[in-house]
Amino acid sequence: MRTTTQPGLADNYGRVATDLRVSLTDRCNLRCTYCMPEEGLDWLAKPELLTDDEIVRLVTVAVTRLGVDEIRFTGGEPLLRRGLVGIVDRTTALEPRPQVSLTTNGIGLARQAEALAAAGLDRVNVSLDTIRPDTFQQLTRRDRLKDVLAGLEAAQAAGLTPVKVNAVLMRGLNDDQAPELLQFCLDHGYELRFIEQMPLDAQHGWNRATMVTADEILALLGDRFGLAPTDAAARGSAPAESFTVQGGPQTVGIIASVTRPFCGDCDRVRLTADGQVRDCLFARTESDLRTALRDGASDEDLADRWRKAMRGKLPGHGIADPSFLQPARPMSAIGG
Ligand code: 5AD
Ligand code: SF4
Repeated sequence: MRTTTQPGLADNYGRVATDLRVSLTDRCNLRCTYCMPEEGLDWLAKPELLTDDEIVRLVTVAVTRLGVDEIRFTGGEPLLRRGLVGIVDRTTALEPRPQVSLTTNGIGLARQAEALAAAGLDRVNVSLDTIRPDTFQQLTRRDRLKDVLAGLEAAQAAGLTPVKVNAVLMRGLNDDQAPELLQFCLDHGYELRFIEQMPLDAQHGWNRATMVTADEILALLGDRFGLAPTDAAARGSAPAESFTVQGGPQTVGIIASVTRPFCGDCDRVRLTADGQVRDCLFARTESDLRTALRDGASDEDLADRWRKAMRGKLPGHGIADPSFLQPARPMSAIGG
């Protein structure tokens, strides 16, 4: 029975979510210092995880009943999920066909890029914060830079383009390396975006006073690369503020989630690997879809629960409020 007249994922502030981020696992093979402690985390147990069929079922509900037209698979590290290619294949077969992309650390991408492209994957975002092996080891606590670089090349060769690179700058670790990272991406035709570090680390070590801000990043790059805003007015819901390099056509993005929040234009919704809907990265509550799904709920019932889950979406993340509290789950369990 329909209990709402709203067809899509609308919230109480006039925003409609059309971009679904699905976390396929909370596990990761890196240990980035801004994300996880050295020893890793208490991973979700297998029975808690949605199966491949359950993921495809919920994605299908989102695409066919709720107006979602963009699906991004994330983690943890989504390439660790065995059924990834099959999940992508079934997602790109949906009508209307959604845009499908993957946010990955790139390890193992060299092996899977062709199969993912054949399954219909449109694009990848690869996380890469440095091109120096020693800094990579310090930042991720693993010696895997070569695998990531090979993954980037394979993605490019497989046509998973534009290949985007996400970078987080950490003070004292890699904040002096922004220019060389940008030059590397320009040379290879990758689209680089810097993301301000957000208070989503499991260790709760984030500190506003020490984070590298968008203004700083601009100052670090601006003159040397002749950056100019592409079209501030056309920013729309895309969180990355985009700058042309030396007049274009190449660009670099800066995602100022903390210092210039874009919550008013947010069109995102998230599904965790254990089947919880999150209306915001920073939400302190979640809506359980897994129980209903496993209890035999109909597609329309699931759609209705999902619509209701969106109504509590807050107008903004409130990071600047003195009362701000980090969500209970870290980024790796929410999906980027
Ligand atoms: N702040 C900003 N970005 C983060 N990422 C992971 N944790 C954080 C954080 N605390 C990035 C990863 C990846 C994307 C999913 O989010 O580097 O690129
Ligand atoms: Fe949207 Fe939440 Fe991100 Fe703000 S913080 S942009 S509301 S997901």
